[in-house]
Amino acid sequence: MTSPGIVWPRPAGELELRLPTAESLDRVLRWRNDPAVTNWLLKTEVEPEAFRRAWLDAIADPHDHSAIAFLGDEAVGTASLWVTDAMGQSHVADGPWRGAEAGIGYLIDPAYAGRGYATELGRALLVLAFDELGVHRVTAGCFADNTASWHVMEKLGMRREQHGRRDSWHAELGWIDGYTYAILAEEWRARQGG
Ligand SMILES: CC(C)(COP(=O)(O)OP(=O)(O)OC[C@H]1O[C@@H](n2cnc3c(N)ncnc32)[C@H](O)[C@@H]1OP(=O)(O)O)[C@@H](O)C(=O)NCCC(=O)NCCS
Repeated sequence: MTSPGIVWPRPAGELELRLPTAESLDRVLRWRNDPAVTNWLLKTEVEPEAFRRAWLDAIADPHDHSAIAFLGDEAVGTASLWVTDAMGQSHVADGPWRGAEAGIGYLIDPAYAGRGYATELGRALLVLAFDELGVHRVTAGCFADNTASWHVMEKLGMRREQHGRRDSWHAELGWIDGYTYAILAEEWRARQGG
C-alpha cells in the first residue's frame, strides 16, 4: 500500500506505475504464466484467483508498495517493493534498523522485453525506496543464469554482494548459483549527483 505522501500513479520512464485493480491483474495474467516469464522465477506458475487476492490484499499492507506497470493501456509489467527490518541489535528496540531495507523485483511481459523497461521499473522503485520511503539499503536476488535480470541490477548501480554457490534450486536444473545485489542510500544519492 501506500504510505501517506506516496502518490499513485507514478512515472517509470515511458511506463506508469499504478496500484493493482482486479482488471489490471487480469491483464497481467495473460502473460504471467508464460514459460518465458516463469523460467527464472521462484514463484513459478500462479493460480489466477490466489494471484489476484494476494495483489489486492497487499494494497492494505503498509510494508508493500508493489504496482502494475502500464504502457498506455497495456499492463506490460509488475514492479514489487517490500520493506523489511535490517539486521540490528534488539536492545535498541526502535533502532534505525527497523524498516531500513527494501527488497525489489520486476517482471516484464516477454512481448515487451529488451526495451529497457525493467531498468525503468527498477529506477522508479529505487526513487520510491530511497527518496520517499527513506530506507537505508535496497536488495534484489536472482538465479545467476538470469542474465537479463542481473544486467538490470548492474545498470541501476547495484553491487553484487553474494554469489551463492549452488544455493538455489531450479526445477529443471537442480542446484544452481544465485546472486544477491544491493545498493545503499548514499550510493544512490551519489549516482544522482547529490
Ligand atoms: C528479466 C527481465 C525483467 C528483463 O526485462 P527487460 O525489460 O528486458 O530488461 P531491460 O531491457 O531493462 O534490460 C535487460 C538487459 O539484459 C540484457 N540481456 C537480456 N537478455 C540477455 C541475455 N540472454 N544475455 C545477456 N544479456 C541479456 C539486455 O541486453 C539488457 O542489457 P543492456 O541494456 O545492457 O543491453 C524480463 O526479461 C523478465 O520479466 N523476465 C522474466 C521474469 C524475471 O526473470 N524477472 C526477474 C526475476 S529476478
